[in-house]
Amino acid sequence: MNTTKSQCVLLTGGAGYVGSHTIIPLIESGYEVVVLDNLSNACKGLEGQKPVPITKVEELTGKEVTFYNVDLLNSNSVSEVFDKHDFCCVIHFAGLKAVGESCHIPLTYYRVNVSGSINLLEVMKAHNVKKLVFSSSSTVYGEPQFLPITEAHSVGNNLLNGYAKSKYYIEGILQDLCNSDKDWSVIILRYFNPVGAHPSGNLGEDPTGIPNNLMPFVAQVAVGSRPCLQVFGNDYDTVDGTGVRDYLHIMDLAEGHVSAVKKLQTNNKNGAVAINLGTGNGYSVLQVIDMFSQVSGRKIPYEIVGRRQGDCASSYCDASFAKDYLGWEAKRTLKEMCQDTWKWQSLYPQGFSTLK
Ligand code: NAD
Ligand code: UD1
Repeated sequence: MNTTKSQCVLLTGGAGYVGSHTIIPLIESGYEVVVLDNLSNACKGLEGQKPVPITKVEELTGKEVTFYNVDLLNSNSVSEVFDKHDFCCVIHFAGLKAVGESCHIPLTYYRVNVSGSINLLEVMKAHNVKKLVFSSSSTVYGEPQFLPITEAHSVGNNLLNGYAKSKYYIEGILQDLCNSDKDWSVIILRYFNPVGAHPSGNLGEDPTGIPNNLMPFVAQVAVGSRPCLQVFGNDYDTVDGTGVRDYLHIMDLAEGHVSAVKKLQTNNKNGAVAINLGTGNGYSVLQVIDMFSQVSGRKIPYEIVGRRQGDCASSYCDASFAKDYLGWEAKRTLKEMCQDTWKWQSLYPQGFSTLK
């Protein structure tokens, strides 16, 4: 064993967007971080070097991050990582997340997300590591039945795609596991809409191909990589007819994970708990465009088109349970989300792809 149990955290998928940003406050809080990632959706870096986001995190923190290029579907390789370290806790980010793609290749989504999670849990059990933070999504709530969405809102109803269902199924598996063995302690974090970048601009969301989500698309239009944003519908029952979402700064989200890890370490009560992570505020598409235009000083051409299939009018959370249970609340504003996205997009107009 080469690390101390109380301070070493494993991040599956830690080279991705949410994972890489989470490493920073973990290190700042005194944790040692080990990352396991197969780099299926992260920038690999030059031959013999660590993935680009990990190198950037090391530059930003001045601390080393241990990295393993391992696929969660390969249980033996995952087990070898656990043989080398004494983890106090695992944060499970790894998975596939493109909603549209999950409708075309559902089996791949279930294999990676569900089977990958089961593999991880089996290896954790075999190594007696029974504390887990899991990346879930507000998507498990389906079409909101009331707003703001509390954790008591029903989950699993009318889920329209394999991605959403995979998150719902994994949540169920975690509940069953905790019911079967009272030593497990699991925090399920239901993220609303993570956006933004590290304030240095040296780490950010690096989507491959055409972005599916609003903020990276707006940023690419602002920087001139794409000519025009399509706004999916302006006939919703919202402030200006466009969709309303609970955008959350990535560094607030990252800090939420640190609060969850600390909670798992001090908690005497085991079992699985689901917690919303959001600001509790909703902003419309046009409000986001307007704010991004202000902070970037760029015009953002857009056209109104039809609604996107599967979209709801409004989604925002009641974030009070996160404050009560974790002592965490989001601090950063929509302006900071746009400013930091713009800084990242201006410094790396092509993302990290030019650094490979
Ligand atoms: P991401 O794609 O940037 O990161 C996921 C990482 O997992 C990638 O680095 C990828 O290479 C890795 N990975 C994928 N399959 C793997 C496998 N089989 N073995 C090992 N590594 C594997 O995604 P993200 O935005 O950082 O999201 C992290 C988690 O949070 C995901 O589970 C996602 O579903 C969830 N989530 C994200 C959002 C969001 O808007 N970003 C919202 C809600 C929930
Ligand atoms: C998306 C995912 C959802 C995931 C969530 C969190 C889909 C269908 N859903 O939802 O599963 O949990 O992200 O990250 O992908 N919009 C435009 N033009 C665009 C892109 C988006 O007008 O080019 C609008 C959408 O209609 C929506 C808002 O912007 O009203 C936000 O969209 P997006 O960023 O994709 O997030 P979600 O729809 O919440």
